[in-house]
Amino acid sequence: MNSFLSSVLPAPEDPVLSVYFASREDPSPVKLNLSGGSYRTEEGKPLVLFSRWSQNKEYLPLDGLADFNKLSAKLFLGDDSPASKEDRVVTIQCLSGTGSLRVGAEFLAKHHQERVVFVSNQTWGTIPKFSIWRVCMLEDLGAAPSGAIVVLQACAHNPTGVDPTLDQWEQIRKIVRSKSLLPFFDNAYQGFASGSLDIDAQAVRMFVADGAQSFAKNMGLYGERIGALTIVCISKDVARKVHSQVLLVVRPMYLSPHIHGASIVTTILKKSFLRFSRIVSMRQQLYDALQARGTPGDWSHINKQIGMFSFTGLNEMQVRFIAKEYHIYMTYDGRISMAGLSSKTVLQLADAIHAAVTQIA
Ligand SMILES: Cc1ncc(COP(=O)(O)O)c(C=O)c1O
Repeated sequence: MNSFLSSVLPAPEDPVLSVYFASREDPSPVKLNLSGGSYRTEEGKPLVLFSRWSQNKEYLPLDGLADFNKLSAKLFLGDDSPASKEDRVVTIQCLSGTGSLRVGAEFLAKHHQERVVFVSNQTWGTIPKFSIWRVCMLEDLGAAPSGAIVVLQACAHNPTGVDPTLDQWEQIRKIVRSKSLLPFFDNAYQGFASGSLDIDAQAVRMFVADGAQSFAKNMGLYGERIGALTIVCISKDVARKVHSQVLLVVRPMYLSPHIHGASIVTTILKKSFLRFSRIVSMRQQLYDALQARGTPGDWSHINKQIGMFSFTGLNEMQVRFIAKEYHIYMTYDGRISMAGLSSKTVLQLADAIHAAVTQIA
């Protein structure tokens, strides 16, 4: 896997910025940071002129808002990504999709030997192209020089609107791996193709590859220019060095990214991950409650299904029984919204399902 990253050397510390940002970590009540040119009020506080979301308008670090980066990586690689758990993923906030692609490209131009870059022959940008999908795409990639960079749109391909199926992605993945190509995902429409952020990230997660994320479209934040660049490394140590070198790319380009868009995305992602983890816990609680009651049937599908809804497998008679006797309402095909459950009501529902299954055929 991207072994060229292992030879990246740690970048030297920036003499001004390292002091500027280090002072923020100093808990001393008498600290005085005179290293950067930020205006302070008489009380030594940042001056907030216009603010609805951000608490202040201070410079963000070069790699952006830490929480934003963590949540973006999670959205890109998934909750359970081993690479993230092993701390070998570098994610930095950049200027929307275009800016993230640009920083990624500059980093590769500096540190990757192979300069050939493939993009699909129909795309929203420029450069050496591969024919869009089917046999020609595999042929073109098969003829690519080893190490060539392949830019792949993660989902909702612009402009064709045609995405590879999962089987086709697997064929692309195999050829990318066998030719030691470097896959780089352009992920501007996560959530747009299937309506599910997770389904739309399947290709990325199958490759566990680098990529650029944009929140312009899926969060309607076009002008906020908010996005992220993620680089998956082979080890934590490599990730630390790569991170330092990516900052060297950013430094002369724009110094640091926007605070406002990052705050909005972070707020939204925090809330939705919270909501999501509650749904997962509701699934588990309902499953456990049915097991505890010895309700006949296999209920493992409740845990396996994803998203907001669950098909219980109850029939219309049972659904009507539950509505009449237990005042719990679901669609007649037995679908329930997991998001509507709480730790208390989940037990009521388990009682109702148990009664319906044991009393109504
Ligand atoms: C596939 C793809 N990637 C990236 C972008 C860049 O968008 P932005 O820089 O606004 O995030 C676009 C814009 O149309 C796009 O279609």
